Order: sequence, then structure tokens, then C-alpha cells
Amino acid sequence: MNDEALHLVEVDLHTEHRVAPVDERIFGGFLEHLGRAVYEGVFDPGSPLSDDRGFRQDVLDALRQLRMPVVRYPGGNFVSAYRWGDGVGPIAERPRRPDFAWHSIETNRFGTDEFMAWCDALGTRPMMAVNLGTGRPADAAELVEYCNLPAGTGVADQRVDNGHAEPYGVRLWCLGNEMDGSWQAGHVPAQTYAERALVASALMKGLDPSIETIACGSSHKLMPTYLVWDRTVLEHCWDRVDYLSAHRYSGNGDDDTASYLAEGVVVDEIITEYRGLFDYVRAIKRSRHRVYLSFDEWNVWYRERSGDGGWQEAPHLLEEVYNFEDALVCAQYLHAFLRHADVVKIACLAQIVNVIAPVLTHPDGILLQSIYWPFALLRDAVSGDALRVAVRSPELSTRIGDVPVVDVVATFDETIEGGCLSIVHRDTHRDADVIIRIADRRVTVTSSQVLHAHPKTSNSWDDPHAVGPQSLATATDDDGAIRMRLPAPSQVVLRFAT
Ligand code: AHR
Repeated sequence: MNDEALHLVEVDLHTEHRVAPVDERIFGGFLEHLGRAVYEGVFDPGSPLSDDRGFRQDVLDALRQLRMPVVRYPGGNFVSAYRWGDGVGPIAERPRRPDFAWHSIETNRFGTDEFMAWCDALGTRPMMAVNLGTGRPADAAELVEYCNLPAGTGVADQRVDNGHAEPYGVRLWCLGNEMDGSWQAGHVPAQTYAERALVASALMKGLDPSIETIACGSSHKLMPTYLVWDRTVLEHCWDRVDYLSAHRYSGNGDDDTASYLAEGVVVDEIITEYRGLFDYVRAIKRSRHRVYLSFDEWNVWYRERSGDGGWQEAPHLLEEVYNFEDALVCAQYLHAFLRHADVVKIACLAQIVNVIAPVLTHPDGILLQSIYWPFALLRDAVSGDALRVAVRSPELSTRIGDVPVVDVVATFDETIEGGCLSIVHRDTHRDADVIIRIADRRVTVTSSQVLHAHPKTSNSWDDPHAVGPQSLATATDDDGAIRMRLPAPSQVVLRFAT
């Protein structure tokens, strides 16, 4: 690399310039009854790699490293025609059903109780979605009764009879899924959904006032009703719900990597638009209540778009193979959630195993895809508060306009007197010299890990470590400024202590 061709980037921080505490639930995941996510993914009875409950141990080990605080379940589009009662009780009595969403056969071998046990095994908390497509609000309330009420009422006693004496205490509840979409079972206009969601939320919170509910926002920024749907739902439900959902899947269908690597700017825009909407509805309601964003589906997804399972059990669907540029886009989603820590309180990587996932299974083992790594590095490094960051950077020309060559976030945690800084270097040609100054503290770099590869490099069964973290050299000047050279393209996650 020719020095004359280097980008020069300056980053300035002050550890008192804080956005908000980071809610660790932005590191959530999502498991849907879809393709091989559940069956052959997390649940594979009979496999030598599974325990006696059928839980794949290698999958659990890989996901444990990601320390997801919440996992959303059971869908997704699947939930909108799902009868939760099919998935509890004696296995032999559970019906096989056609799954409307993915044209697959659902055996119901894995259901609510198995999911709760799996969450326990993983060390995460369930985030349940209820069916507000074909299901009634009363059915949703009965699922809360099944999960959260002590023994002594009809539906809670079913749980006890099924071998689970103690309530599960599920705190987070999604009021349906993508109900703005014509593809969704039971899709209705915004006002009808809002009325349904309000009744459901009231019934569910009536049974267990400790729960929090998430209303469906728009399923995509490109929906014609984007933000109008959301405004209708919020105006109707404001005081009775706690979060509104946002979803986004990114893609590089026209192979324009420069523009693709600007995705973080679009995610920032979406969150900013929701921030404006929340402020507007709160103001016209003259309410003290706050609603936050639950970005409960995000990822790259554009190659394996067919959702037709051919009425098979566990068909191979949405098994996207990820490359390094996809990983850099995923890093930028997490950056955006951190940067807007005052608005985004929950986010779920969609999904976790086999289906648009960081982990792929095979009868003999697992593969960690490229997108596993930005999540793993940030999950490990981030704690405390998100900081405001001042960045001076050259720009790259892209389809959405000129964007900075780097995307930078930082956090600081007073309890450990340390913090982290993550930088995505978007340019694919020129390396960047980066100087970082922390105005109010002298710090020591305790670790610095970089992900760097050709944008089209993927991990594969033959070459499983093509994309993975390596250490990056840093230097500290006499005045305390940190210097490093970032290869193009890359992500670096640097940790420091004071
Ligand atoms: O994650 C795959 C699908 O994407 C989900 O089922 C749906 O909610 C979204 O459209």
C-alpha cells in the first residue's frame, strides 16, 4: 500500500459526552419456525451432537459466545397463523400442520415449553410473539396465562400438567409480526391492527402487569405506508405499549459495494425518523409515557429469497451464505443501535441458526459465518454508556450521496473505568491512518482486534476461518493519542482502560 494513498481520519472523544446507557438487549437474536432454524438447527433429536432433550450442543456453545440477552420466538411470518396450543402437551398428540407462511410442514415437536428449556440452556430470556393475524387477542392473553401465571387457573394448570410447575415469567411480548404486510396472514389496515393490538396488550398486561409489549411498526422503509402505519398505531396505542418494532434486511443485489457499505447511514436515518415520530406522538398526546424502538429483525438477506418450502419438514430455506462485506454491514447496524442508545432498546439479529444466520449446521458440526464476528466482537467489548463521537474523515461517493470513509462508535463504562471504540473502514481500496484522542483521560489500549478480508470472502466448510478476528497493532503518542492503520476494508474493535 502506497502511503500517499492513505486516508487520514481523526476521532475525538470525551468520556462525559454520553448519549445514554446501552441496553444490552440490542444484542438479541431471533429464532423462527422456518426452514432448518428449529429442526436440524437448535433442535436435532437423535444427532450425536445433541443432548437428551435434542438440543444441539455445538449450536448452543457457538451462540453462548454471543451472550444474547433475549431471543425472539416463534416468528416472524410463521407466528401469524400459529396456534400455540398445537405446540404444548404430549408430543404424540401434537398435530402436524401446514405452515401458511413458508409452505412447510410443522410437526409441533418443538413448542413453547421446549423453547423455554432451550433459552435456559443457552442462558437467555425469551421474547415471545403472539399471533394477531389469525389469532384473537384472547388467545394471546391465554399464552400469557400459560407462560406467566401461577398454578390455579385453567390454562396455567395446563403448563403444570405438562411438567412445568413454575411460571416462566416472560417479560417481552410482540403484538404480532409485520401486520402492515400483504404477505402476512391476517394482514389488516393500520387502524384495525391498532385496535386489535390495544385490546391484546390490555388483556395481556391485565393478567401480568409486569410484562412489556411491542406493537408492530412498518416492516420496511420501502412500504408505502412507512411511518403512516406507525403513526396510526402509536396514536391509538401509545399509553398501552412500550416499544414499536422496526425491521430491515440489507442487500447488494446490484453489486455496488461502495453504496452497500453505506448501509449504516440508512439505518441511522430510519432510527432518526422513528425518533421524530415518537417525539411527535408523545407531544400531541401530552404524555409522560415513553415508547422506544425494538429493531427486532435486522440482517443482510437478498440471495436466498424463496420462501417456498414445498410442503416439506425442515426444508432448506433462506440459507444465505455471507461474505465479508455483509459482515461490515452487520457491524454498521450494531453501530447505529449504539449511536442511538436513547431510542433503540431492543434489537434482534434475524436469525440465529441456518436461516439467514451466523451459524450453519451440518450433521457433523457447525460453521461460523462472517457475520458472526462483528456481533461477537462488539458484544464482548460494549458496556456502559454510548458516547458522542466527533469524526473528521474523507468521504466516499455512493448511490445515497457522499458518506464518511469510516463509521465510528464508542462506549465508556465507569464501573470498569474502561471503554471501547469500533470503526468500520468502508473503502475497499485505500487503507486509513487513524488517530484517536480522548480529551479527558489518559488511556491504555488493552486489546485491538481487526476483521479484514476481501469483500467477497466467505467462511466455508473447507475454509472456515477465512473471516475472523486478528490483532491489530496500535501505538500511543507521548500526548496519549492512539494511532493505528486500518486495512481496506475492515472493522476494528479497540478496548481501552483508564
Ligand atoms: O426473518 C425472515 C422473515 O422476514 C420473517 O418471518 C418476517 O417477519 C420478515 O419478513
